[in-house]
Amino acid sequence: MGESLVCVKDFERHAFSVLPRNALDYYRSGAGAEQTLAHNRQAFSKFKIRPRCLRNVAIRDPSTTVLGEKVEIPIGISPTAMQRMAHPEGECANARAAQAMGTIFILSTIATSSIEEVAEAAPYGTKWFQLYIYNDREVTRKLVERAERAGFKALVLTVDTPMFGLRLADIRNKFVLPPHLKFANFAGDKATGINTTESGSGLNNYVNRLFDQSLEWKDIKWLQSFTKLPIVVKGILTAEDAIIAADLGVAAILVSNHGARQIDGTPASIEALPEIVQAVGDRVEIYLDGGVTDGTDVFKALALGAKMVFLGRPALWGLAHSGEEGVKKILNILKTELDYALAITGCATIKDIEPRMVVPEGYYSRL
Ligand code: LAC
Repeated sequence: MGESLVCVKDFERHAFSVLPRNALDYYRSGAGAEQTLAHNRQAFSKFKIRPRCLRNVAIRDPSTTVLGEKVEIPIGISPTAMQRMAHPEGECANARAAQAMGTIFILSTIATSSIEEVAEAAPYGTKWFQLYIYNDREVTRKLVERAERAGFKALVLTVDTPMFGLRLADIRNKFVLPPHLKFANFAGDKATGINTTESGSGLNNYVNRLFDQSLEWKDIKWLQSFTKLPIVVKGILTAEDAIIAADLGVAAILVSNHGARQIDGTPASIEALPEIVQAVGDRVEIYLDGGVTDGTDVFKALALGAKMVFLGRPALWGLAHSGEEGVKKILNILKTELDYALAITGCATIKDIEPRMVVPEGYYSRL
């Protein structure tokens, strides 16, 4: 039998045909009219690749170093919530796939597998923990302690979510987490408050009730006061915020518009990347997520100054297909596509990617 799923879009199409409506809509949706959702992908085509020739690419190596640790590919797994809606092994399968591919897995605070379960499933992989901060700060402090104890190597603080965005399908569906699942890092209401809603999205109701909307930049200092883990700030889209974060001594910035799920009308992540690289690229590591569906997207992000990219939805489509194996397929597809991009642009290693190899399309219309 021939191979029928050969790119991320094929897996997406497959997932759209097999996932239950409630779960698919939750994973798929962007905020509002979803203009930014489409734009996150389309914007990559506004950047053009200038390949270089005859540079001996016979031996190629896509590995890189992130926060001092070697990763085999510059493509990791972004935090997405409630992965057991996509596959019974959810986050555990996803983390095992990342471990097998030698890359980073970021576990969501509101995962359907706990910190300890994921650590046991993928003990050797590099794992980071995504943090949402609850009104009850002791909750957050305990999560951080557990992540440290379980060997997670960084905290990924999401800073773009005083509220969760308005996702229309979730409101229509009255989204809730199916009753056989819960937020596995918690007990009581924090674990099962997501299983019911009176009206609208159960997730938005949960978050509005329990997450701290008063967060300020100074709270990063609070976090730093009780953890030594490096802090990656996720969700920055402006040079202004990037400078504040760098001044506070964060280790890295994950440039992200939250999969276009927060506020419609933001730039695509790839459009926001250059100003952030320019502002703080010499002080902190910079990563990107949002709309990455092809190896050329990875190449463009790296040329524009990202050290690493992360995938959210594509990993979910892999999970929906065949759990750990499906996520490995997705990562292998992107790895192969990146390898082709490296070879054909004249780059034997990631270090050989030069900024001038990717330009905005206006570069050509000016000629
Ligand atoms: C979301 C949260 C969980 O986008 O990050 O739904």
